[in-house]
Amino acid sequence: MKITVAGAGYVGLVTSAGLADIGHNVTCIDIEKDKIDMLQNGRSPIYEPGLESLIEKNLLNGQLQFTMNPEQAYSGADIIFIAVGTPEQQDGSVDLKYIHVVSHTIAHYINKDVIVCTKSTVPVGTNELIKQIIHSRKSSAIKAEVVSSPEFLREGSAVLDFFQGDRIVIGADDPDAASIMEQIYLPLKIPIMKTDIRSAEMIKYASNAFLAAKISFINEIANLCEKVGANIEEVAFGIGQDKRIGHDFLKAGIGYGGSCFPKDTKALVQLAGNAKHQFELLEAVIKVNNRQQTLPVIKAKEILGSLKNKKVAVLGLAFKPDTDDVREAASLKIIKELLEEGANVRAYDPIAIPNAKKVLGDSVEYAYNIHYALYEADIAMILTEWEQIKHVRLNMFQTYMKEPIVIDGRNCYSLEEIQKYPITYLSIGRPDVYRDKPKDELRIINL
Ligand code: UDX
Repeated sequence: MKITVAGAGYVGLVTSAGLADIGHNVTCIDIEKDKIDMLQNGRSPIYEPGLESLIEKNLLNGQLQFTMNPEQAYSGADIIFIAVGTPEQQDGSVDLKYIHVVSHTIAHYINKDVIVCTKSTVPVGTNELIKQIIHSRKSSAIKAEVVSSPEFLREGSAVLDFFQGDRIVIGADDPDAASIMEQIYLPLKIPIMKTDIRSAEMIKYASNAFLAAKISFINEIANLCEKVGANIEEVAFGIGQDKRIGHDFLKAGIGYGGSCFPKDTKALVQLAGNAKHQFELLEAVIKVNNRQQTLPVIKAKEILGSLKNKKVAVLGLAFKPDTDDVREAASLKIIKELLEEGANVRAYDPIAIPNAKKVLGDSVEYAYNIHYALYEADIAMILTEWEQIKHVRLNMFQTYMKEPIVIDGRNCYSLEEIQKYPITYLSIGRPDVYRDKPKDELRIINL
């Protein structure tokens, strides 16, 4: 079988390298020359643990090719995966321009029966549109089936998720096409669920919306914990013990970011609106998330009053650890607010500085180690829970900062540990620790 993957982004690359690794012959096509040049040399254009070595291995053993040539990619293909971007438009709806372009290109070049399988996250009904485009342009002698098989990869553990996912969803109208797709995935030994196309499309949105709701829910409980003197970590553990609730996605913090949750939640609200349904719960999830991202600046002002000319050390720029992605990262919004308040920002991240620089330019100073970020700072804000940040020696705040005041947006340290040092420490959903108070006397806001 000849498999082609359209798009060399996170989903396209992991899918290409993963399918090649389980024995398929895969060609991955993209329109960006720089990307393809890098990939042909075995280098990954994105930071994703394990991806580069997987690409290199499968390039070398001949299972994987990269190209910009659509004829080479699509003619003769048995299965074509669509993994192009579906960015957000200003009103929150999904921009399908890349889906349109790739569907037209596929229709132009296919020359035998083919299954087109959509991995990109697309609103319900889009696969029918893809089908229409392909059917309106291809020769009538060619049979082209369209299948929806959404991706559930997490950045930072995408390779692991490809090989050890919880489920594979195949949405198809044609049972033969569904069976062929099942065979493609079979070596992964991941449970496969077959369904209709629209349900498959909805499973992806509903999954992301549910996980986002879980995060906003625990963040609201955290906010309440701060007000009533409870500790969110104890509460999250306590509720997570109930198997119906589970422990995952109950980590309180400064909200979700990234390329999926913010975009997909807004798209689902929009999709619901188009179907004349107001998705009030999801609207609230988004609202809570936006508010959560304002907490570090509010807390900093509570302590310092004005932030004008204050030196702020920002620790962490990526939207989560193990990725260089800063899309919709809380750090970007928080830094923007800090700059508006007149603060001077020095930011550290082990990997994401180049991407952050594309957005922030020289409005902030970049620090290539934590010591330098903290040096002479009036306050430090932890915005991403990188291992490097979680494992700093806590006396570093005291040694390098003007005043050891830390706002921890990701609850990186245990309160017990923090209390051993003379640090003022405000986290999310847990009692504040003040350096000038006796160690056992924790201040509880608004109690
Ligand atoms: C997500 C989905 O998990 C994945 O299935 C989908 O395919 C794409 O979107 P991703 O965005 O890579 O993956 O990261 P994820 O690990 O889900 O985290 C998303 C955001 O939620 C991050 O900003 C993270 O910091 C935040 N988060 C996650 C929390 O604030 N608390 C949690 O308990 C979990």
